[in-house]
Amino acid sequence: MINILAIESSCDETAAAVVQDGRKVLSSEIASQVELHALYGGVVPEVAARSHIEAIVPLVKRAVANAAVTIDAIAVTCAPGLIGALLVGVNFAKSYALASGLPLIPVHHIRGHIAAAYLEYPELEPPFLALVVSGGHTLLVHVKDYTDFAVIGSTMDDAAGEAFDKIARVLGLGYPGGSALSRLASEGDETRYKLPSPLGTPSSAIFNSLDFSFSGLKTAAVNLIHNAEQKGDAIDKPSLAACFEKAVCDALVSRAARGSAVCGCKRVVLCGGVAANGRLRKQMISTFGDNIHIPNVYLCGDNAAMIGAQAYYELQAGHTANTDLNGYANLEVDCNWKMLCKP
Ligand code: KG4
Ligand code: ZN
Repeated sequence: MINILAIESSCDETAAAVVQDGRKVLSSEIASQVELHALYGGVVPEVAARSHIEAIVPLVKRAVANAAVTIDAIAVTCAPGLIGALLVGVNFAKSYALASGLPLIPVHHIRGHIAAAYLEYPELEPPFLALVVSGGHTLLVHVKDYTDFAVIGSTMDDAAGEAFDKIARVLGLGYPGGSALSRLASEGDETRYKLPSPLGTPSSAIFNSLDFSFSGLKTAAVNLIHNAEQKGDAIDKPSLAACFEKAVCDALVSRAARGSAVCGCKRVVLCGGVAANGRLRKQMISTFGDNIHIPNVYLCGDNAAMIGAQAYYELQAGHTANTDLNGYANLEVDCNWKMLCKP
């Protein structure tokens, strides 16, 4: 049995977990900075990095103590994310590996979001299609094997979570507002406002592709709110939230259906922070039935258990690094991962 200690610090959660054989969570600790950043209406990179530094040592100590097993390797998210935040985790993990002599496994954050599904479904194996919907990414990924990925669709501009957060902020719901917007939407009329689809119009370049564009939808919703304010009209906030949520979910489900046909994968995984959305979960279940795999809500947002799950498969593939390992703000999920790894 292989017990991996995993560290995640790519954005605004410091997290540490111990995962056995890529499938069993022995411990999982998360220190959220959400309240700190809510003051500013968004994540402040420098504040995030400093907060990771304060949180990481006690958090790792707790994760190791709670797991109560011998640790065999250390894994860390090294890309993509806020560079100052990533480097806290990367440097901590490098030091730990150096001091303990254990293997160091670099993990891609999005590969981790996908691997959250392995923790929920012990029988799940690639190949499958993954719809990754988070604050920073909206991707359709053909997961050919545990460490073999191909991005077949992505957003041309904003990520779906980013659009959720923007509309939530304009509606005065605070940050991050995805789940608050979703709660408000449940009381609204989803037919009240006409909003553009993130799939484009038949004449647009993305219409027949596997790509998305959320910026037009976001701008249309923001303009509706501002125009109403300027005229002194009352906007029906729950209905606007419902129409916005419907437009996002319909687009995601429709692209996932097309993506599954294109890559010939019936099995589909829904993951990332926005996968916590109740409407999206329901629509994906009704479209894909028994073929849909959605991690529990607590595994959808950023956590270290998902990093430990993917790390097991990276280790099997020989993807270990040495103390030259760096952090990378931008790196594709289907890049040549071996480039980061040194024996
Ligand atoms: O994956 P994640 O935790 O962090 C990133 O890697 O970006 O995703 C965070 C995103 C935020 O935009 C947040 O508003 C959104 O996930 N989110 C939701 C819901 N819960 C979280 N969006 C819509 N509905 C939700 N219930
Ligand atoms: Zn994430």
